[in-house]
Amino acid sequence: MKIKELISKEKIENRVRELAEVIAEDFKGTDPLFISVLNGGFMFTTDLLKNIPYPIQVEFIKASSYLNNTYSSGNVDLTETSFEVKDRDIIIIEDILDTGRTLNKIKGYLKEKGAKNIYSVVLLDKPARRVEEFKPDYVGFEIDDHFVAGYGIDYKQKGRNLPFIGIIE
Ligand code: IMP
Ligand code: MG
Repeated sequence: MKIKELISKEKIENRVRELAEVIAEDFKGTDPLFISVLNGGFMFTTDLLKNIPYPIQVEFIKASSYLNNTYSSGNVDLTETSFEVKDRDIIIIEDILDTGRTLNKIKGYLKEKGAKNIYSVVLLDKPARRVEEFKPDYVGFEIDDHFVAGYGIDYKQKGRNLPFIGIIE
């Protein structure tokens, strides 16, 4: 696989630290529950949460789309989760907001389980690809319609380990 750098390791580190500072301030004293979306969100989650300077709870949810080549076909499966969300303020941590289907599905699921408020932070937003309306509360970087990998994000299951984000060529 050939990958051309789009966002450097340093740029990601700086932006993630900025996001964490803003979120830490916004949710100070509210005991938020962070829900990290696997697999793509794992690296973003660890870096983001290490920069929150007080103890918080983090849980994980797995979202899988049935793929048509590389892009999602529209069906999103969520794994059952065992944590309690009732009356909690939730912040979903997601790698990429693309069509909007995954985040809408997760939001609906958490609402049904009784979450009080549901917020979201996405590392990458591709507004040009939106199919369903979804407004994230915090965005790392807006990017054009490229297929990317690295920093937790895969191309055919590979490349999640790379410390930068690049375009698949
Ligand atoms: P959505 O449901 O279309 O918004 O898609 C969200 C999910 O599709 C993301 O969480 C990613 O897992 C995956 N995805 C979207 N764009 C890309 C990409 O460029 N590279 C790798 N995965 C992607
Ligand atoms: Mg994802």
